[in-house]
Amino acid sequence: MVAEAASRWIDGKSARSTRSVKAQQVMASGQHDGVNVTVKADALLGEGPVWDGPTETLYWLDIKGKYLHALSPARGKSTKVQLSTEVGAVAPRSGGGLVAAARCGFCFLDPVTGNLTAIADPESHLPNNRFNDGSVDPSGSFVAGSMDDLETAPSGTVYRLDPEGKVTVLFGGYVICNGPVFSRDGRTLYFSDSVSRRILSFPYDPADGSVGDASVFARLMEADGYPDGLTVDADGGVWCAHWGGGRITRFTADGKVDGIVEIPVPHVTSCTFGGPDYRTLYVTTARWGLAPGRLKQFPLSGSLFAVDVGVHGLPLPTFAG
Ligand code: BGC
Ligand code: CA
Repeated sequence: MVAEAASRWIDGKSARSTRSVKAQQVMASGQHDGVNVTVKADALLGEGPVWDGPTETLYWLDIKGKYLHALSPARGKSTKVQLSTEVGAVAPRSGGGLVAAARCGFCFLDPVTGNLTAIADPESHLPNNRFNDGSVDPSGSFVAGSMDDLETAPSGTVYRLDPEGKVTVLFGGYVICNGPVFSRDGRTLYFSDSVSRRILSFPYDPADGSVGDASVFARLMEADGYPDGLTVDADGGVWCAHWGGGRITRFTADGKVDGIVEIPVPHVTSCTFGGPDYRTLYVTTARWGLAPGRLKQFPLSGSLFAVDVGVHGLPLPTFAG
């Protein structure tokens, strides 16, 4: 484990031109150039990082390997617990423990034993679907989206699990639901429609979970890969992990590219701010979908990275149920 974290930051104005040269050099040479591996792991599909403030723990998932990882930077300790099924996203509960979005629906998850306790399964009729990304809105409801595990049918739906355990549909019709995260005031829901390479924004009312019409917040070019996990910083900037793009992009709240952090593996899946002062950007990555030759070229695929990007996050809301 490496305690220190640093980043390679490319200013947005020059991002496009420098990216194509520098990032490819970094990736091809296998150099890490200031971005540190905080947990060297071989996660198949590292995902869903979330910081638990009270225990100062970074939880993250290996969806396909069926593991919940826990990193305690203060104690220099990294552990993992085997899960009985694929879990796409977790979030801390206000009273301790985790809420989870799993292949078998919404559950409580005991982070020590890995035991799952069912809450509700809105997709028991869709055996090819599984839950993917999720986060908690400012009213304490857990919002998570599903996806077609074969990545072809538009069977993904975003649901809201309220603290009483009631599940409602927010919107659907997407192949892969990624992102769902909230602006600081909770009035905007950001969502990655990965397959169409678009980040969408929806007006959102945290009080009742009502959702307005989608607008396109940002588009990725083919060379940029696909938008995957998202997080929002203290200044309202939106950070997007690029699956197949080897980087994280920060967008300003009006959707302009503000800067890029290069990550030395192709499949960058998600990111979140953590550490006691929320100054570390934790980044998950995947081995999934990389041919043996590419895995040899990018052996850090599946590791957890920690980056000091000079911008900080804020504590995220916890699930009130
Ligand atoms: C999913 C992967 C998918 C990727 C594409 C991830 O969130 O878990 O299965 O391939 O998004 O962006
Ligand atoms: Ca994801």
